[in-house]
Amino acid sequence: MSVPVIAFFNNKAGVGKTTLVYHVAWMMSDLGHTVLVADLDPQGNLTTAFLDADRLEELWPEDATTPTIHGAIRDLQRGVGDVVKPCLEPVGENLALILGDMALSRCEDAFSQVWPKCLDGDERALRVISAFWRVLQLGARERGADVVLVDLGPNLGAINRAALIASDFLVIPLGPDLYSLQGLRNLGPTLRVWRQEWRERLARNPSGDLELPTGAMQPLGYIVMAHTMRFGEPVHVYEKWISRIPATYYRAVLDQRDPDPPPVVSDPHCFALLRHYRSLMPMAQEARKPIFHLKPADGAMGSLFGAVRHAWQDFRTLTERILDQARIARTKVT
Ligand SMILES: Nc1ncnc2c1ncn2[C@@H]1O[C@H](COP(=O)(O)OP(=O)(O)OP(=O)(O)O)[C@@H](O)[C@H]1O
Ligand SMILES: [Mg+2]
Repeated sequence: MSVPVIAFFNNKAGVGKTTLVYHVAWMMSDLGHTVLVADLDPQGNLTTAFLDADRLEELWPEDATTPTIHGAIRDLQRGVGDVVKPCLEPVGENLALILGDMALSRCEDAFSQVWPKCLDGDERALRVISAFWRVLQLGARERGADVVLVDLGPNLGAINRAALIASDFLVIPLGPDLYSLQGLRNLGPTLRVWRQEWRERLARNPSGDLELPTGAMQPLGYIVMAHTMRFGEPVHVYEKWISRIPATYYRAVLDQRDPDPPPVVSDPHCFALLRHYRSLMPMAQEARKPIFHLKPADGAMGSLFGAVRHAWQDFRTLTERILDQARIARTKVT
């Protein structure tokens, strides 16, 4: 049995994907899950959210032996071997990280070139395309994780296609703006094409002992991120875009022809309208903690401490809804 992989993805940049992966991973671990997080975005923002500069300097030496996601797939990419067990950086009691790496961006062409070859039943091509999934599963088994969360960069390129094929489920963060809706209109059809194309390739697996992902990438739901709203912009502008999200999501992502969805607040596909956490967010980044772990000693005093408790409830509700949708059993801690 493979360990479920949940990707947080939208090809729109800056909507809050990395922030969500970071906070949801911490909350899942607080709720008693054993979580593996993987930074598959070459920008490495998730990695720098977890680790300070001193630790990163130790882990990213200037030689070629980096203990990162790139290190785990490098031999396979060079054509001299297969994936290796990833290095797992412990970042919490039940929480481990597979580090991101800028070098991953150099693999874009390699992932792109092997895609058509999979159709010929080329075993190496299938090994390359499934590399992320096999590394995540090796890491999850090693760590005893019951869920894997994945952060991706904002594009529909070949690295992300391989990363999404490695994903059983998808959570889609959105801003209340035109670009996020346009992003959804691209994303939905692209996911359907990739799912179908992977199914065709999966059927050509020539090797009985090469385990491959199903490539389900099932959309679990969306999250509307309020932090992208700008001060001074009238509220009705955002309300207009928010009101258009359900129909666009049902049509583009769920492939419904004439949807008549409920409004966002009662839409079962909407996990949350996540608030703007204002000064708590930079405070949490500075303290290298999720906002719901901030203490008065970190600066969260008075009314800010009340806001920290609110944030804990927000993320608990959001995380439990994601777990329920993915049918990952709640732990006894909850
Ligand atoms: N709920 C929130 N409240 C306040 N600030 C937020 C919130 N969510 C995200 N941010 C801030 O918004 C910015 C963009 O977030 P983030 O880096 O998570 O987006 P992203 O989608 O991962 O971006 P990219 O596409 O570049 O990977 C960051 O500065 C982050 O701190
Ligand atoms: Mg990001």
